[in-house]
Amino acid sequence: MTASPAPRDTVRVELGSRAYEVRIGPGLIDSAGADIAPLLARRKVAVITDETVAPLHLPRLMAALAAEGITANALTLPAGETTKDWANLARATEWLLEQKIERRDMVVALGGGVIGDLVGFAAAILRRGVRFVQIPTTLLAQVDSSVGGKTGINTAQGKNLVGAFHQPSLVLADISVLETLPPRDFRAGYGEVVKYGLLGDAAFFDWLEAKATTLATDATNRQKAVLRSVQMKAEIVARDETEEGDRALLNLGHTFCHALEKATGYSDRLLHGEGVAIGCALAFDLSSRLGLCAQEDPSRVRAHLRAMGLKVDLSDIPGDLPGAEGLLALMGQDKKVIDGRLRFILARGIGRAFVAEDVPPDTVRNLLAEALATRG
Ligand code: NAD
Ligand code: GLY
Repeated sequence: MTASPAPRDTVRVELGSRAYEVRIGPGLIDSAGADIAPLLARRKVAVITDETVAPLHLPRLMAALAAEGITANALTLPAGETTKDWANLARATEWLLEQKIERRDMVVALGGGVIGDLVGFAAAILRRGVRFVQIPTTLLAQVDSSVGGKTGINTAQGKNLVGAFHQPSLVLADISVLETLPPRDFRAGYGEVVKYGLLGDAAFFDWLEAKATTLATDATNRQKAVLRSVQMKAEIVARDETEEGDRALLNLGHTFCHALEKATGYSDRLLHGEGVAIGCALAFDLSSRLGLCAQEDPSRVRAHLRAMGLKVDLSDIPGDLPGAEGLLALMGQDKKVIDGRLRFILARGIGRAFVAEDVPPDTVRNLLAEALATRG
C-alpha cells in the first residue's frame, strides 16, 4: 500500500500574467522536482542556498530534481544578513552566468529571507530578468518574504534600499523544514505571523493567542498559521503589487524595526522578526497615545509577544542604542519616507491597521525617549 500524499494547501497570488501559486505542506522539498518540472523550458536549474541550509536540505532537493531528470548545480553562500550585500549579489549573478543560465531557465532560491531576497534580485537583473522559484526554509520566509516579489540587498545607507519587484514563478513552503530551524529563528519568524493578525484579522490573532505555543511542534497548526498568513499576504499583494497603497500595511512595526536593525548593525543583537515584534508593540503604543486604539490593546499585544518568548521592548536589545533623536534620524532613511515625512502603520484596534501620514514627530520622539529610559 502506498502512503497517501501529505495534505498541501495552495494559495494563488492573482497578478494576471505574473500570477503564481504558493504551495504549503509537509515534505514539499521531496516532490519539488515534480512541482518545478512543468515550469521549465529545458530540464536545467541553478540552485542558490546558504551554508547552514545546504547540509540540512540541499541533498533532498537535488535528489528530487534529479528524479525528474532535471540537471542542477548549486552555489552555497555564507549564512546571515550580511550576505545580502553587493559582493554576494555579484558573486551569485556571475555564478549564474557561468552556469549558462539563459533567459528561459529557472533559478531556485533555497533558504530564508536573506537567500530569497538576494537570489530574487539576482534573477531580476540577470539577462534583464529570469524566472525563479522560492523554496523558503524559515518561518519568516514562508509567511512573508518568499511571497510578493520584493527582492533586494542592504547597503551602507540602509536596509533593502537597492532592489526590484520580481515575482517568483512558484513558491514551495515545506513546513517540515521548519523543524530544523533554531528556536530563536522560529520565534523571530513568528513576529511576522502575528503581524497579520494585528494588521488585519482579529480572529486570527485570537486563534494565535490560543494556539501559537503549539506551532513549533504541531504540524497541523503550523500549516494553518502559514496558510492564513500567506492568504493575507497574497490578497494584499494582488490589490497593490508595488506598494502604492494597501501593501504598506504589511509594514506594521517596520519603520521602528528598520531603524533598530540599522542601529544594531544588522547583527544577531536583533533579528529582523524580533525587530518587527518590538516595532508592532511600539506601533500599538503610538496608536494608543494618539487616541486611536484602546489603551488595553498595547498591553494585550505585549503579553502575547512575551508569552511567545519574543523580544518586546527596547530594553530587550543588548548593547548600546542611539538616543530618541538618533533613532528618528535612522527612520528618515526608511523607504516609507515621502517628502521627508515619516509614514507609520497605526491601528484603530487589533486587526485594524491603516496608513498614517501625519504622525506628530514629537509624539514619536517622546515615545522613543520613554521606551529608551526603561533600558536603565
Ligand atoms: P535568514 O535567511 O538569515 O535565515 C535565518 C537563519 O536561519 C540563517 O542562519 C539561515 O542559514 C538559517 N536557516 C534557514 N533555514 C533553516 C532551516 N530550515 N533550518 C536551520 N537553519 C535554517 O533570515 P530570515 O529571518 O529568513 O529572513 C530575514 C530577511 O528577510 C531580512 O533580510 C529581511 O529584510 C528579509 N525580508 C524580506 C521580505 C520581503 O518581502 N522580501 C519580507 C520580510 C523580511
Ligand atoms: N514584507 C513587506 C512586503 O512584502 O511588502
